[in-house]
Amino acid sequence: MRERYMGVMRVLIQVLFLLTVINGKTTSASASVSISSSNSQEEEGLKGHFIFGDSHVDSGNNNYLVSTSKANLPPNGIDFKASGGWPTGRFTNGRTFTDIIGEELGQPNYAPPFLAPSTIGEKILNGVNYASGAGGILNHTGSLFVNRLGMDIQIDYFNTTRKQLDELLGKARAKEYMTKKTMLSIVIGSNDILNNYLLPGISTAQMILQPPDQFLQQLISHFRAQLMRLYSLDARKFVVTNIGPLGCIPYQRTLNQMSESECVSLPNDLAMQYNALLKNLLEELNYDLPQAKFLYANLYDVLMELIKNHQQYGFDTASVACCGIGGKYAGFIPCGPTSPMCWDHSKYIFWDPYHPTEATNLIISQNFLDGQLHHISPSNIRQLINNFS
Ligand SMILES: *[C@@H]1O[C@H](CO)[C@@H](O)[C@H](O)[C@H]1NC(C)=O
Ligand SMILES: *[C@@H]1O[C@H](CO)[C@@H](O)[C@H](O)[C@H]1NC(C)=O
Repeated sequence: MRERYMGVMRVLIQVLFLLTVINGKTTSASASVSISSSNSQEEEGLKGHFIFGDSHVDSGNNNYLVSTSKANLPPNGIDFKASGGWPTGRFTNGRTFTDIIGEELGQPNYAPPFLAPSTIGEKILNGVNYASGAGGILNHTGSLFVNRLGMDIQIDYFNTTRKQLDELLGKARAKEYMTKKTMLSIVIGSNDILNNYLLPGISTAQMILQPPDQFLQQLISHFRAQLMRLYSLDARKFVVTNIGPLGCIPYQRTLNQMSESECVSLPNDLAMQYNALLKNLLEELNYDLPQAKFLYANLYDVLMELIKNHQQYGFDTASVACCGIGGKYAGFIPCGPTSPMCWDHSKYIFWDPYHPTEATNLIISQNFLDGQLHHISPSNIRQLINNFS
């Protein structure tokens, strides 16, 4: 142990020496190294990552709520290295796709949950996560799960963070930090369709009263107002994920007793209709607000491509959940201590009845970071971060 430590120290000292020579400075080695490395961090990469949305990207907010939508039970998190495999509240076996995106953009830490008591002080400069399992665009979406943070409340909390940033940095620097050094990731809308409009039993009456077009228009106009609120709080770089193929998740396949290769059409049709409206909305905002950039991240097509060609991507199944209970696709009861779990988590597209595995999240994040226009438009995230200030 001690010898290894000494070895590491020797290498470090040599590196420091080399760097000092390269820098051509006469000041002490350690000082010049720490300054130059902190300088380069100032220049490039993402400073603050602010994450909004639902269980796709919740990093633990629901742990602090009285809710039936919770993932702080094993084996959730079993492949999450930062916690040593312990559950964190993430609804997957490892990292969410926003975790991976932050990491790839050079963030030293994952954006911590807003509701965690330790999310205070300088820590918020790295970003904050407001996402909440069962949350939606509409305030009442997900009420079946008792408590959750809907988008309106998540933005109220961001407003709180925004004031904390003013106090930490001073108003002028806080504004500069927000507009130039931060990015927002927003993953919302699935629950408005799945756990509101299509809720078995409860929603038949609503569907008759309100045709889908009208419901989706209502969602979009509410979402537009939410994006404008975020803009008014100095957010400028937005990555907005569309709704995935909800009819293909193990829960929907089980509920509707679909065959292995079939997805349920109504949820997929609603998602596609919503997505078309969302794409228009973001194009409109890009035009109206030239100071801001709104990326349309096409989760629907990325997941559909994976599901249709899962074998090419190295997955054994696109329909069965790795961890869950119920029917052919393990699609009714979420992942928990009593659920059976598959052996090789990386061979499954879905971790539980609703959510992708980390293996899938890796592919999603790669497509959003470096993908082509059919994955994310009008640019990918890497281009957004590199070419915009
Ligand atoms: C949303 O719901 C919360 C309670 O969950 C309530 O306090 C708040 O006033 C509601 N907001 C709107 C805009 O209806
Ligand atoms: C933020 O909070 C202040 C009150 O502290 C309020 O006046 C303002 O309208 C809020 N902004 C948004 C966008 O919610």
